[in-house]
Amino acid sequence: NEDPAAGLKRDVGEAAARLVEDGMVVGLGTGSTANFLIDALGRRWAEGLRFTGIPTSIRSEERARKLGIALSDFGRHPEIDLTIDGADEIEEGTLNLVKGLGGALLREKIVAANSRRMVVIADDSKLVRHLGSKAPVPVEVTPFGWEATSHRLGAIGARVQPRRDPKGDFFVTDGGNLILDCVFGPMEDAPQRERAIRDIVGVVECGLFIGRAEIALLAGPNGVHTVGR
Ligand code: A5P
Repeated sequence: NEDPAAGLKRDVGEAAARLVEDGMVVGLGTGSTANFLIDALGRRWAEGLRFTGIPTSIRSEERARKLGIALSDFGRHPEIDLTIDGADEIEEGTLNLVKGLGGALLREKIVAANSRRMVVIADDSKLVRHLGSKAPVPVEVTPFGWEATSHRLGAIGARVQPRRDPKGDFFVTDGGNLILDCVFGPMEDAPQRERAIRDIVGVVECGLFIGRAEIALLAGPNGVHTVGR
């Protein structure tokens, strides 16, 4: 395994799996950290824990299903007790997030918005003073008119790069949309930036998660610690 943070991601995924209790409806995140969570939940399921999962992506859905975890949707379970998901950047103090480098931001945001609690899990290299320090902000846009939408994002200060898959074609999300990766640099006012992005016609959602996460579980060389806001 070439990911140098894999051990830390495993630690934090396993710690977060212990937060799930019998009978809960649980939002299952997406990404390499969330995969460790799902695997740990699969082990707890095999030991007899019973809960209902709402996956944030097709990939996480397939992973959870293979482990035998019961899955549902908003039609049957409109409210989620607890969502556990990774992030690309976590802002110190506010726990505002950048998400979506894995491309699942729209479903992730719908699940987060309909959860009573959200816990974000990561290795502590994801902690930043200001969002935008390292990661671009992924913006999901409709394929129709994406060039115009991209131009508008440029006008509010972004350097815009349409995301491509390894073959060089446009990356297409689970929802059939495109992703424009927007480099803004470090942001002093991420909430205001989120509103400006979402005001642009053609934008479906953006990867800034403001006021969603209540708690972060962060793994470092000295173990897993919990940070609130
Ligand atoms: C998926 O769309 C993302 O929001 C992920 O949650 C995020 O990219 C974290 O992924 P890793 O755990 O693989 O770093």
